[in-house]
Amino acid sequence: MAVLASGAGTNLQALLDDRVVGPWIALVVSDRSGAAALERARSRGVRAEFLDPAAHPGRTEFGAALLALLERESIEFVVLAGFMRILAPEVVRAFEGRILNIHPSLLPAFPGAHAVREALAWGARVSGVTVHLVDEEVDHGPIVLQEPVAMEPGDDEANLHARIQEVEHRLYPRAVRLLVEGRLKLEGHVVHVLGDE
Ligand code: GRF
Repeated sequence: MAVLASGAGTNLQALLDDRVVGPWIALVVSDRSGAAALERARSRGVRAEFLDPAAHPGRTEFGAALLALLERESIEFVVLAGFMRILAPEVVRAFEGRILNIHPSLLPAFPGAHAVREALAWGARVSGVTVHLVDEEVDHGPIVLQEPVAMEPGDDEANLHARIQEVEHRLYPRAVRLLVEGRLKLEGHVVHVLGDE
């Protein structure tokens, strides 16, 4: 499995720390050389690669370089954990049904890079976390797991995001386990979790 991350990598850490998921992680890729996620991987002895967007300008070129790296490492599953770059369709297609993303809202509400800020700006009463399979549209693929997070008066972006992240760190390892255990069955746009009565 490869985990792609651009930032702090707290979700990556939750995955590394999971008894089932941790040993699956063979590669961490970042598009930012200074991403703390790379350091988290290295300190666990996991291969960490910076893929420089300046050296591969454009989505197609970056996607081709990413795909070559994933294929070279015989990667079977791709997990996006705060990866702030839209994947080329070629990458999505090559890993169809085998790519997960985590997003800090109850999709399809508030897709995009500022989900927490926008939920606050709309005066939403409930926010949450969505884990979904990745398709060619941003924050759009079939939903795997979801959990609401109540919004409280006086919330700002930082403290609401912190409560959301607590849920993320619990939900993402669960979802990735389901993926590697082959328990996600797609029917149209709906994911059924096998063995979940
Ligand atoms: C998470 O909130 C995730 O939902 C979003 O990006 C953030 C990444 O955080 N896609 P971290 O780097 O895992 O701490």
